Amino acid sequence: MSFSRALFTALVATAGTAAAAAVSNASTFEARFPQAAVQSVDVAIIGGGGSGANAAVHLHDAGLSLLLVEKQDRLGGMVNSWTNPATGKNIDYGVAAYTNYTGTVEFFDRLGVPYKEMSLEVAYNTTAYADFTTGRTINYLAPSTAAELAALATFYSVSSEYQDLFLPSYANWPAPEDIPEDLLMPFRDFAIKYDLNATIFLIWGGIGTGLADMLDAPTLYVMQTFGPQTAAAFLGTDPEYVPSSGRNQDIYDAAAKVLGDSVLLNSVVVDSIRKPDNEGVELLVQNQRNGTFTIILAERLVMAIEPTAPNVAPFHLDRNESAVFSQGTWSVVDTGIVSHPSLPVDGLIYNLPASAADGNGFALPEPPFVDYFEYLGDGLWQVIVVGWLGFTEQAAKDLANEAIQRLAAAGTFPATNGTQMTIHAWSNHGAMDMRTTADNLESGFIQRQYALQGHRSTYWTGAAFSNQLSNYLWAYNLEYLVPLVRDSF
Ligand SMILES: Cc1cc2nc3c(=O)[nH]c(=O)nc-3n(C[C@H](O)[C@H](O)[C@H](O)COP(=O)(O)OP(=O)(O)OC[C@H]3O[C@@H](n4cnc5c(N)ncnc54)[C@H](O)[C@@H]3O)c2cc1C
Ligand SMILES: *[C@@H]1O[C@H](CO)[C@@H](O)[C@H](O)[C@H]1NC(C)=O
Ligand SMILES: *[C@@H]1O[C@H](CO)[C@@H](O)[C@H](O)[C@H]1NC(C)=O
Ligand SMILES: *[C@@H]1O[C@H](CO)[C@@H](O)[C@H](O)[C@H]1NC(C)=O
Ligand SMILES: *[C@@H]1O[C@H](CO)[C@@H](O)[C@H](O)[C@H]1NC(C)=O
Ligand SMILES: *[C@@H]1O[C@H](CO)[C@@H](O)[C@H](O)[C@H]1NC(C)=O
Ligand SMILES: *[C@@H]1O[C@H](CO)[C@@H](O)[C@H](O)[C@H]1NC(C)=O
Ligand SMILES: *[C@@H]1O[C@H](CO)[C@@H](O)[C@H](O)[C@H]1NC(C)=O
Repeated sequence: MSFSRALFTALVATAGTAAAAAVSNASTFEARFPQAAVQSVDVAIIGGGGSGANAAVHLHDAGLSLLLVEKQDRLGGMVNSWTNPATGKNIDYGVAAYTNYTGTVEFFDRLGVPYKEMSLEVAYNTTAYADFTTGRTINYLAPSTAAELAALATFYSVSSEYQDLFLPSYANWPAPEDIPEDLLMPFRDFAIKYDLNATIFLIWGGIGTGLADMLDAPTLYVMQTFGPQTAAAFLGTDPEYVPSSGRNQDIYDAAAKVLGDSVLLNSVVVDSIRKPDNEGVELLVQNQRNGTFTIILAERLVMAIEPTAPNVAPFHLDRNESAVFSQGTWSVVDTGIVSHPSLPVDGLIYNLPASAADGNGFALPEPPFVDYFEYLGDGLWQVIVVGWLGFTEQAAKDLANEAIQRLAAAGTFPATNGTQMTIHAWSNHGAMDMRTTADNLESGFIQRQYALQGHRSTYWTGAAFSNQLSNYLWAYNLEYLVPLVRDSF
């Protein structure tokens, strides 16, 4: 049985390109897993989040056969669309919206998903600040809107000048000696240099929290995370889009439909062999629900998962690959929908240290921290918790509950009487915002990272190779990754 299946795949492969014949005639894993189905394809993609699902659609449209391996039971990664059972209403508590970048509306159109501009309606009308480590409110003096927007406009114009060096890919990244000082300095120093005091908190509250240590990170990574276009969205000069349904999962469900049988859900790669010079890969994939193995023989591998040590273990990195990823560090973001009788209805309450009072101390919470509780309506709040890689989902939940108890104990919230936080939905987004030190950047980190493209038949997409926003990743795929893979055949 298994022999004839292998023969069949060999015949199918020989019928394809000449390159296909070179790798697809034998599987090392088949001897060990004779029951496994063997599938030969042009490209295997690992990870069906924002980058992997988009790359798969483009590669499919380029006429390549593919298999997309995703460990969850759906595509979309950091998208979290949740239906409130009490009201039937959808709430997106992960990815919120997409800026109008190269390929954004084209991707919606390709998938047949209608889109609209995001409405800025909020469910709260009071913003408060407290130190969640003591529970006490702080007298944070928010800057005037005019001052905030003026400083943001400065950030927009400076970051706009640099963006071609790192968005949507690092294809134009300069040689180490030519990297602008501005991009290497800690964001704290950059903010002082350009007098961004009045907008620090907006950048932090906007997206910067995801970096965990925004002020210490090289400015490059702040501009990556909170790019000029995000600034433009806050300045009101650029739109942000969402599906007309208001449900971001619709985008990825539509992608799954386009890809059909090419998607293996609930599946992970447990072992692999990667050959040099585009000679292909063999992947042993296991369905986590029923234990079934599939062997994928692919000409090219596209990695669309964060290259953390546990994620890449089954891919047996060589020295060059390990040398790059061992210099990366990651933050972790958890997002949840919670309720508690002591949380303020109509309120958004931010966590800032007491020293943040006038904004000029550049004081921000130390990781791990709860970012905020924001009222969503219907007795529900969104909470965001941020830590370093290794910070567990349980620790994040505990920290959120402890924050409520502490805020109540200090009299900021009404007494809890020991009532614990109720969790309605929760998502640990795992490793985010890979970054390295300025020293590593100056010693050619990006060059070493990009030299991995095509090494051992493997190509890389995802936030670590581009940017932490979905639609920048779509543009990275469109302009950089997909042509690279397509033209390698
Ligand atoms: C709270 C929050 C809000 C956000 N809001 C926005 C927003 O409004 N707009 C925006 O553009 N971006 C937003 N982002 C960022 C955006 O979601 C991410 O940058 C983007 O999803 C990154 O895409 P990715 O493909 O690199 O990773 P992911 O989307 O995380 O995709 C990785 C995929 O790989 C799968 N996977 C992981 N390990 C394995 C494995 N071993 N085998 C198989 N599969 C595996 C995962 O299940 C996942 O589906 C937000 C992020 C967070 C945390
Ligand atoms: C597979 O094909 C290659 C190239 O056609 C050939 O050199 C090799 O011997 C084949 N391997 C097996 C196990 O048949
Ligand atoms: C969106 O971006 C495109 C291309 O950059 C541009 O032509 C279009 O005008 C933008 N749309 C809006 C509403 O700004
Ligand atoms: C918030 O606004 C709504 C609608 O205007 C109003 O009914 C409610 O009382 C306000 N809540 C607070 C806390 O101000
Ligand atoms: C395991 O699940 C996969 C995906 O749903 C399915 O194709 C396969 O037939 C299942 N195998 C068994 C033994 O149930
Ligand atoms: C691997 O790293 C070594 C040492 O930095 C370098 O000389 C070599 O060219 C690299 N190999 C590849 C394939 O990038
Ligand atoms: C901005 O903040 C920095 C850092 O605390 C401080 O040194 C500087 O005086 C502030 N600038 C203004 C104009 O307040
Ligand atoms: C806590 O107890 C007080 C006094 O009995 C009561 O007024 C309050 O509603 C209770 N709060 C919660 C969250 O149960």
